[in-house]
Amino acid sequence: MTLVGPIWRATVLTLFPEMFPGPLGVSLAGKALASGLWALEARDIRDSATDRHRSVDDTPAGGGPGMVLRADVLAAAIDAADCGPDRPEDRPRLLMSPRGRPLTQSQVVELAAGPGPLVVCGRFEGVDQRVIAARGLQEVSIGDYVLSGGEIAAMALIDACVRLLPGVMGKLSSGADESFSDGLLEYPQYTRPQEFEGQPIPEILVSGDHAKVAAWRLAEAEALTKARRPDLWAAKNSRQKQPKNTTKG
Ligand code: ADE
Repeated sequence: MTLVGPIWRATVLTLFPEMFPGPLGVSLAGKALASGLWALEARDIRDSATDRHRSVDDTPAGGGPGMVLRADVLAAAIDAADCGPDRPEDRPRLLMSPRGRPLTQSQVVELAAGPGPLVVCGRFEGVDQRVIAARGLQEVSIGDYVLSGGEIAAMALIDACVRLLPGVMGKLSSGADESFSDGLLEYPQYTRPQEFEGQPIPEILVSGDHAKVAAWRLAEAEALTKARRPDLWAAKNSRQKQPKNTTKG
């Protein structure tokens, strides 16, 4: 495959660079990383500390538990990561945080189509608000639960992007059928053996009738989405009810 332009690059700012590539170094993402289909740069925020103790955090203004990542140290780390000709300024700058907007597949598609993000991993009680504003960090959450830091969330985000990059999925489908691509959860899958603990594969799937298989899969996907994700089901229905844009010209 011929690739044009600079490769997709994820730059991660973290206090634990040794956590990377971690799971991103194996399987689909790992093979693609090794073959140069994408690049990963994990940078230590502590390298931007300036005092004798290389401190990166301090107690929260106004009191309270825990420690807050310092604005000056994180700003210096972002500035150092952003410079250089192969690092265009307009890369998305993300901050992994349970306070962020929930990550969606459409945002993943958008990120995968761009140059690749700068991803800041939060730790401690949070990050000084002033650096979030001053460096235009977009806060992103991977779910309504609290991890001990942003690293695992960053890996989830990067993995979701990397599998969409050209050449990464190889002969596998482009992901057109999978959960969320059409606002539906994915239909159930079966493979050999034909019977497992007394349960056969649904008859229709072995009938060879492609139209019937497609209709069955759609019905299953819809039933699953209604039952498990009424939010997705409602969103899909309201999109479909919207009148078509009739504006001419
Ligand atoms: N850091 C801690 N919890 C997180 C979450 N749920 N999403 C993103 N970053 C996080």
